[in-house]
Order: sequence, then C-alpha cells, then structure tokens
Amino acid sequence: MKIMILTGAGVSAESGLGTFRDTDGLWTRYDLNEVATPEGFARNPARVHEFYNARRANCLHARPNAAHQALARLQRGTHDVTLITQNVDDLHERAGSTDVIHMHGELTRALCAACGKRWDTPPTMSPNDPCPYCTAPATRPDVVWFGEIPYAMDTITLAAQEADLFVAIGTSAEVYPAAGIVELTRSDTLELNLEPSARANAFDTHRFGPATEIVPAWVDEIMA
Ligand code: OAD
Repeated sequence: MKIMILTGAGVSAESGLGTFRDTDGLWTRYDLNEVATPEGFARNPARVHEFYNARRANCLHARPNAAHQALARLQRGTHDVTLITQNVDDLHERAGSTDVIHMHGELTRALCAACGKRWDTPPTMSPNDPCPYCTAPATRPDVVWFGEIPYAMDTITLAAQEADLFVAIGTSAEVYPAAGIVELTRSDTLELNLEPSARANAFDTHRFGPATEIVPAWVDEIMA
C-alpha cells in the first residue's frame, strides 16, 4: 500500500518543541510577520537569526519520541511510505526515518539568498555571515517563510495523487498549501491529532489523542 504521511508540530510536541498555535505556542509569543517573513528578515536580520538560533538550540537538546520512532518503523516495513513534514526539526531523521521531505525547510541548513547554494549550518548564524560559495553576506536559515513557496510541491502533489492512504499527524491545517493536500488525493484519509484540526471534515476517519500514544497504536495496526 502507498501511504503518504504529513506531519506537523504536534508530532514533536512531546519532545519538548513547542507548537505554533496551541496555548503558549510560538505564534502567541512571537509576531510571525517579524520572524517568519522575507520582509521581517529584511527589516531586522539579527532578530530573525536570534529566533532560529534559539529554535536550533532547542532542537539539538530534544530527542525523538515514540511517534517519530513508530513512523521510522513503518518506513522500514513493507508499505511504500512517503514522509512529508512541515517541521524544520530533524527528529524524524534522528528516529531513523529516511528520505524525509521537509516542505518548510530545515533548521540545520543554511541558504544563500544571493547564489541559492545550501549547506549545513553552524549552531549559530549571524547577519552578514559570508556565503561559503560566493562570499555574499546574504546567508539565511533554509526555512520557508510566509509568502514563500514550500519545497518539493511537485513531488508532494504526485505522491498525493498516487497514494492509497493519506495520514495527517499533529497539524492544525491552518497553513496552505500543506492544509490542502487532503484535497489533492483520492485516497482514504485519516487524521491523527490531539483534537480536530481546521480541516477535520475533509478526512474520512480520525483518531484523537497524544501523538506518542495514537501514532504507535496506528502503526502497529497497519503493520499487523
Ligand atoms: P500548529 O501549531 O499550527 O498545530 C499543531 C497541531 O498539533 C494542533 O492541531 C494541535 O492540536 C496538535 N498537537 C499538539 N500537541 C499534540 C500532541 N502531543 N500530539 C498530537 N497532536 C498534537 O503546527 P503546524 O500545523 O505544524 O510554518 O503548523 C504549520 C506551519 O505553521 C508550520 O510549519 C510553520 C507554522 O507557521 C512556517 O513557519 C512557514
């Protein structure tokens, strides 16, 4: 069976990485226009680097949880699994997943806004860090900001069209185009989330609860 999985911040919540829109979520404490848009970066690159440096440090100290581990186990099994994440953390990889598609980029990668090259970040980035390829002082976190186009949309669209089952895990479905993937697929659809998302009505079936409980239970069933 071809299974397409889309994860969001909820899958990493129990690893201690905050979500965005829950009580005390990142967007209740930070103005996303200032830290997660190209315009915010142009206005104040130091503030944006500080935000992502702090998130990178949190991520370094976090550990994958039972939900990440269960999804890695599913990938090692006999189903054909495409794992897409909106998360910029690397907890899927550290749990053993491979070929993870990071549609919103990765905290561990840097991007040169001048030449477009990418490389592994040092733990801390600063304004005017020179690009190691072209030396332009135009380096930025390799994350997708509001107003930018997420990565790998062609691959994601194809996977949605070919899937037999689409599963969204730990995402509020407030952000497009990720929230619209459920509309691209003719497959069966399942939502695994703490509570109904904004697009809950678009899914055939749902299971609600903490990801560390409901994801391993679902993986056990689908692998049985
Ligand atoms: P949100 O913070 O919008 O939503 C997190 C979802 O996870 C909510 O539906 C919660 O109910 C659920 N949740 C919380 N704790 C959970 C747990 N322990 N187990 C299961 N589910 C849990 O995060 P995303 O949907 O990932 O983009 O946000 C999408 C995008 O918006 C992010 O990639 C980011 C953000 O702005 C950019 O920065 C471009």
